Amino acid sequence: MDGNGRWARSRGMPRPAGHREGVKAVRRVVEACRKQQIEALTLFAFSSENWRRPKTEVSLLMDLFISTLQKEVDSLHANGVQVRFIGDRTPFSTKLRTLMDNSEIRTQDNPGLRLTIAVNYGGRWDIAQAAREIAARVQASELALDDIDADLLGKQLSLADLPEPDLFIRTGGEQRISNFLLWQLAYTELYFTDTLWPDFDEQSLLEALASFARRQRRFGQTGDQVERIQGA
Ligand code: IPE
Ligand code: MG
Repeated sequence: MDGNGRWARSRGMPRPAGHREGVKAVRRVVEACRKQQIEALTLFAFSSENWRRPKTEVSLLMDLFISTLQKEVDSLHANGVQVRFIGDRTPFSTKLRTLMDNSEIRTQDNPGLRLTIAVNYGGRWDIAQAAREIAARVQASELALDDIDADLLGKQLSLADLPEPDLFIRTGGEQRISNFLLWQLAYTELYFTDTLWPDFDEQSLLEALASFARRQRRFGQTGDQVERIQGA
């Protein structure tokens, strides 16, 4: 979700105003995904590199995160949304960690949209923590070296129980992955838009979905093979 700061600056407003507007976009997009019956939505809210921002901005983002969770969890729960967080939680305040834990526990059996919020997340961190976990199991003789393959590593990653993402959307004009779901994006369709995150709305999502629908996904096969399978 990129472009909050530029959205604010272009209106002569301070950056926090852009972040607050960004929260409204989150609400709209979650709603639009529910309407489209999308199975899972993962939002990159705060990367492990975002700590390098000015202290005041980091603390504003943490406050906004806390107040948004306090305000939104009731209605997410009422709408059947399953909320969860990925990323290293250890540096967060106890208050924020408790809120995250409680939202997860409260919504874990919900049947609707599976909403994941990546906070203090990094794709490399995710792969490294999976490797550490596997190494520990080898050391404890629960696993043999020969058991380690891509499938096993994938199972240790944060989103192991979700299907691999079909579509990746980056707003704000940048064409980078920026350490998001590195492993999981192997076959994901990438979509980049200049729209700044606070301007992203239902229509923007529908445009991204339409672009996705026009693409042919081959997963290493030839176009002819895929068409034969689809025709069968
Ligand atoms: C993304 O918007 C929001 C977060 C990282 C929380 P930015 O803050 O990166 O906005 P720009 O890139 O400065 O416009
Ligand atoms: Mg940015």
